[in-house]
Amino acid sequence: MTQAVRPIPSDPAAEEAARGPCGLRHVGIIMDGNGRWAVKRGLPRVFGHRAGVDALRGVVRHFCDLGIPYLTIYSFSSENWSRPAGEVSELLGLLKRFIRHDLADLHARNVRVRVIGERASLSDDLVSLLEEAEAKTARNTGLTFVVAFNYGARQEIVAAARAMAEAVYTGRMTPDEITEEALARHLTTSGIPDPDLIIRTSGEQRLSNFLMWQAAYAEFVFTPVLWPDFDRAALDAALLEYGGRKRRFGGL
Ligand code: FPP
Repeated sequence: MTQAVRPIPSDPAAEEAARGPCGLRHVGIIMDGNGRWAVKRGLPRVFGHRAGVDALRGVVRHFCDLGIPYLTIYSFSSENWSRPAGEVSELLGLLKRFIRHDLADLHARNVRVRVIGERASLSDDLVSLLEEAEAKTARNTGLTFVVAFNYGARQEIVAAARAMAEAVYTGRMTPDEITEEALARHLTTSGIPDPDLIIRTSGEQRLSNFLMWQAAYAEFVFTPVLWPDFDRAALDAALLEYGGRKRRFGGL
């Protein structure tokens, strides 16, 4: 098996400096259009999700090759529970199968898996799998692959606010200590740099409760490509578009 291992040095300064092309440190992807991809082919929607997993594999490998340190994918939102039961169950099953089948390969590629999102309502076997993926790859130094599963940015911000309110109430924190940095530390993405770029496929142009705090200064690339068709060339085109942007972070 060919491996694309590009380790990031483990000392914090070097990790801070590690960047991919165009200075990219973190890319978030909203993988949209699976259902439409399937319907266009006269197939049930679940086939689109299955093809979406294949696209995801290719994209993760490309990230390893490019040396971009962080990738976050939106694989299941807090709101996705409102889909038909069969589709929800297929998405939960796909995540389980993805971890069971791909964990060894991700580990061999030096990928560190991190999962964000609410776990209390997930089944014990799924939670165990997520924990296993994180524990097995915790010491890896290549791509940090963040899987947002049962994730919602509003819920995440509310949880952070509640944790800080409790800390103030019990005297572990003063109100003055509630700062942007403190809130960021209470988010599930604590320690992960803010995304430089958010890509959304399928032509839709919205954030859909994905990394709302963290994306304050992110650039957005919306591509009409449906997620199952999102290949290396489509990713390279999105990165090229990002490369042409001037980021000002509110300055001049
Ligand atoms: C949006 O397409 C996609 C999702 C809700 C799920 C994304 C999931 C995958 C790509 C596969 C599962 C991921 C893992 C990690 C196993 P849509 O169904 O909303 O498409 P549509 O807008 O065309 O209907």
